[in-house]
Amino acid sequence: MLGRLNHVAIAVADAEKAAKIYGTAFGAEISATVPLPEHGVITVFATLPNTKIEFIQPLGEDSPITKFVERNPDGGIHHICYEVPDILAARDKLMSEGARVLGDGTPKIGAHGKPVLFLHPKDFSGALVEIEQS
Ligand code: CO
Repeated sequence: MLGRLNHVAIAVADAEKAAKIYGTAFGAEISATVPLPEHGVITVFATLPNTKIEFIQPLGEDSPITKFVERNPDGGIHHICYEVPDILAARDKLMSEGARVLGDGTPKIGAHGKPVLFLHPKDFSGALVEIEQS
């Protein structure tokens, strides 16, 4: 059920500034800057041949990444996102194996207009995992 690596997310204070170096130094294609109020982040993507890098910046008072950016003022790797063919089937299977899904378990629409869920880092070797419907 585990599909492609969709993206690696890096949390920073200024997503546009962080993405810029990928555009200038690496020559990567940089997306528009998109606020996602439902997720409490502003996103900018750098597109690579085999995956994407997602730069996320806190948005609003209750952003889930505010503390992370405070602890990592220079930025840091925040989560990795895998594609799954059926997000509800993946959620149910993961939960039946004991993995914890963050929030109420209902997928939210992510940066690519597809349903996403986040999984507890303690169940995945210390890495916050996002799954996205492929
Ligand atoms: Co993500």
